[in-house]
Amino acid sequence: MRTVAVIALKGGSGKTTVATHLALAAHLRGVDTLLADSDPQKSAQDVLSARESPGPEVAVVSGATLLNTQFAAEGLGKQLLVIDTPAGQVEDVSEAIVLADLAIMVVRPTLLDLAGLVRTLSIVRRLGKPSAVILNQAPVAREGVESPLVKRILKGLDYMQAPVAPVILRSRASYQTALERGRSAEETSDRAAAKEVAELWDYVFARLAESRQAKRA
Ligand SMILES: Nc1ncnc2c1ncn2[C@@H]1O[C@H](COP(=O)(O)OP(=O)(O)OP(=O)(O)O)[C@@H](O)[C@H]1O
Ligand SMILES: [Mg+2]
Repeated sequence: MRTVAVIALKGGSGKTTVATHLALAAHLRGVDTLLADSDPQKSAQDVLSARESPGPEVAVVSGATLLNTQFAAEGLGKQLLVIDTPAGQVEDVSEAIVLADLAIMVVRPTLLDLAGLVRTLSIVRRLGKPSAVILNQAPVAREGVESPLVKRILKGLDYMQAPVAPVILRSRASYQTALERGRSAEETSDRAAAKEVAELWDYVFARLAESRQAKRA
């Protein structure tokens, strides 16, 4: 089983959106998945409980029960554990990173998000975990040209030598409306959003395969 932790100390960056989309993407591809919601707001659980068709399993956990949940998931033959984490909780976030094969940091293209990332990145680096930064809610590029906002953030991420994922999630209403019904944007008619989610899944899947090989070596 592989474990992905979706983290950001800054609130509202899109952790739950990314975590639920990854869990749904895995499920839709036949990967037996558990989504562990370690945020007391339980947004990820709320999202998935609105789903009508079968979906990934979801468990509400606290930092302290995360390890038990991981063992239990492995014992049940789950193939993927996705952990959605609360904002601002350094301890909970650190525990999720320790248990993860890959830590995914989510940032919006704002200076406040970037400032929050400095701290998140320093925790991830201290713990020595493979990681990726996902830029979320970015304005759509016009004729292939990124907005000044996105260019500035990419430059900031470059200064930090942050491991930026080659996939940018754009600001699209379908991410919100799909989750209202517990569905992925991949299950909507928004082809652009569906393509972004599929690319994100392919990227995360490849990174997890790398971490498996590194463990074996
Ligand atoms: N790419 C996107 N396009 C449009 N809306 C988005 C996108 N990503 C997230 N949102 C919206 O932004 C809001 C915050 O997203 P989300 O709940 O995923 O963030 P979060 O980091 O989990 O927040 P919290 O810190 O409260 O747990 C939600 O209303 C969500 O629908
Ligand atoms: Mg959340």
